[in-house]
Amino acid sequence: MKILFFLGLLIGSIYCQIDDTFCNLDNIVPDDGEQVSIPSHNSSERFQISAEKNSNKNLFTVEIDEFFDGQSNIGISINTFIGQKLYTYSYYDQNELLLIQNEKCKVYKLNESYGLTPFYVVNSPDGTEHIISELGFFLSNLKIQNAYLGSKNRYVRGIPVREWQTCLYSKKESSTLKVTLSFTNEKLWVPALSIKGYESIPVQAKIEYKDKDSNYFTEYISYTQFKPGILLQEEDYFTRSGIYCEGRITKKPLPNIPNSFSLVLQAAQSSVGADSLIGTISTSRLELDYDKKLFRYDYRLNGIRYTEIHDRTTNLKYVLDRYHRNCSIQLMQDLSIEDNPFELFEFNKDPPFEYVGQRRVRGVNTDVWIAPRGGEKWNGTWEWHFMADGWIVQESTAIKRNEPLLLLFNLNVPSPNGNIKRPIYYHISNFDQTRIDIFDFDVSTCTSLKNQHLRFSLTSDKYEIMKNNRLSLREGLVNAIKETTQVSYIRISQLEPVFDNGTVYVLFTLIERSTLGTGDQIKLKDAIKSLNDSIISSKLSVSFVDLDNKNYEVKADGGSLIPLSERNGRYEYSYYDIKKGYGGGEVAGFIIGFLIVGLVVGLVAGIFFIIRRQSITLGPLSFLNPNFKNEA
Ligand SMILES: *[C@@H]1O[C@H](CO)[C@@H](O)[C@H](O)[C@H]1NC(C)=O
Ligand SMILES: *[C@@H]1O[C@H](CO)[C@@H](O)[C@H](O)[C@H]1NC(C)=O
Ligand SMILES: *[C@@H]1O[C@H](CO)[C@@H](O)[C@H](O)[C@H]1NC(C)=O
Ligand SMILES: *[C@@H]1O[C@H](CO)[C@@H](O)[C@H](O)[C@H]1NC(C)=O
Ligand SMILES: *[C@@H]1O[C@H](CO)[C@@H](O)[C@H](O)[C@H]1NC(C)=O
Ligand SMILES: *[C@@H]1O[C@H](CO)[C@@H](O)[C@H](O)[C@H]1NC(C)=O
Repeated sequence: MKILFFLGLLIGSIYCQIDDTFCNLDNIVPDDGEQVSIPSHNSSERFQISAEKNSNKNLFTVEIDEFFDGQSNIGISINTFIGQKLYTYSYYDQNELLLIQNEKCKVYKLNESYGLTPFYVVNSPDGTEHIISELGFFLSNLKIQNAYLGSKNRYVRGIPVREWQTCLYSKKESSTLKVTLSFTNEKLWVPALSIKGYESIPVQAKIEYKDKDSNYFTEYISYTQFKPGILLQEEDYFTRSGIYCEGRITKKPLPNIPNSFSLVLQAAQSSVGADSLIGTISTSRLELDYDKKLFRYDYRLNGIRYTEIHDRTTNLKYVLDRYHRNCSIQLMQDLSIEDNPFELFEFNKDPPFEYVGQRRVRGVNTDVWIAPRGGEKWNGTWEWHFMADGWIVQESTAIKRNEPLLLLFNLNVPSPNGNIKRPIYYHISNFDQTRIDIFDFDVSTCTSLKNQHLRFSLTSDKYEIMKNNRLSLREGLVNAIKETTQVSYIRISQLEPVFDNGTVYVLFTLIERSTLGTGDQIKLKDAIKSLNDSIISSKLSVSFVDLDNKNYEVKADGGSLIPLSERNGRYEYSYYDIKKGYGGGEVAGFIIGFLIVGLVVGLVAGIFFIIRRQSITLGPLSFLNPNFKNEA
């Protein structure tokens, strides 16, 4: 839909071209004998006005609601005519003009598009051109030459007025304009809203001119409701939700998103239309790790708790049913935006996000960016709301800024009367950038895949350091196993270091590859073989850091890899102490029961029990698990 451009009047005070037989200020004598200069207004303040424009040239009325904020240097006008609304946003500092009609937006350079605007252009005495709206006319403190006409028997709509005249030249009409400006007479009339400094307010502008064929035209702009101050919300200074203006001068880049984070997402959508009183709210938890290309999604459906794990390395989707404790694996063939949460935070796609301005969300000022996004099944816009710079997130450990607060997704729904917008609100809370536990992406409950429980050990003088930096050690272990075996992260599961008198026993599960997926061709037995080979030749090196970020390297005990076998739901084995060997005849017998426990939201449930012949060591178990039961 083409924007219906407005009949802008181009006015320049190019005096040499002014036809002084039509407009002449020289011999004007005020009819009241006074000498009053035209009221001036403080142009760094805020004003609003309603105006109605009628002309014998156009057979329709234009209604104008206009807002001017001299502090932000932004002007907004809403022009209504023939059932159409034209929104203009003039950002004077950015030299940017937006025209919006029928939800379509066009972007112009303010200084190069006078003819497109509903505004006037005037030349200042210094020769520069200025764009002036209906309201701006009065707020410009008319530096152009003008003459006081008087106040005697001068009324507009029954209001006693003082009038001034000025002569302007319109480039567009190639003709001289005679402009009569009427302000209330402060001696005889007070405005409804009486504010100091605005004793005399604008009431009407009358513009007369002749075209080339000597046709005479008169235009009246009636001003009502002139008010200092603005009733608009700050967010009305910016384009409305769902409107993308291609090619804007984007002032602000989107904030950076960390590589891994988690959040709680509340999706709210009305059932029928945006104004419907019924709708749905669903809450879920997302966890994204862009480095490992893993995504986790926890939600409830029909009373059942589900966890979905998406692995972008293999393009596999694991759907874990927490109630039945089963799992299905699907290949994500069509990675369309519909079921691809990774896309949500990928900001560098085209068309680019554009900065809109600020809006308030849940009482917080946010910076808003918009981009059109679409898929095969839908089209719409995404509007990301991030906390504005002034807001900080106070947490016990850190101060954070610019967190995402809302993704407003305006879905375009085709209807007989054009597209209807259906907004879906994705409210974000608990945005957490702290390190994600790698086992949050555990799929070991997917028992349809073969697996093997394994164990090896680390004996080192760094024992105490390992013990004190368990999380980093775990991550180092996973990385070492991944590097050696070349399997995807998701196939290394339930890894737990067990600390016992100078030796760390590493228990873990390797999962068979799913033949559905691509991107991970390593078979389980080959993975075990490479790991075994590496450990036999004492090449498996595990690196981790302590709290001061100091790096440590520890090698796995040569030949310590052994398989654990399953029996009655526990994985049991006996072995001889490697260091002491058989020679001492001393058997260090362990029975390690490996209870398979369901995953708990956000946490790993790997609980290990070590039962020793002489003494019982429970060790530093995974007490993170709130469902931990002290049963052995
Ligand atoms: C104009 O208004 C601004 C903001 O309200 C104020 O700071 C400034 O002093 C005013 N200027 C004049 C000349 O009154
Ligand atoms: C309008 O402003 C831009 C800078 O924003 C400038 O490059 C351009 O020359 C100006 N155009 C006119 C017609 O003054
Ligand atoms: C889990 O089992 C239930 C009952 O047998 C079945 O209805 C459901 O589809 C299964 N879910 C998955 C994810 O395999
Ligand atoms: C979304 O927009 C694209 C490009 O304009 C178009 O090709 C596609 O058909 C649209 N999809 C829908 C569902 O309207
Ligand atoms: C721990 O190991 C040391 C030798 O490394 C040994 O002397 C000590 O008896 C062991 N303690 C237990 C409780 O096994
Ligand atoms: C590791 O390799 C050795 C020697 O080839 C073999 O005896 C042992 O069974 C292997 N262990 C595992 C866990 O495959």
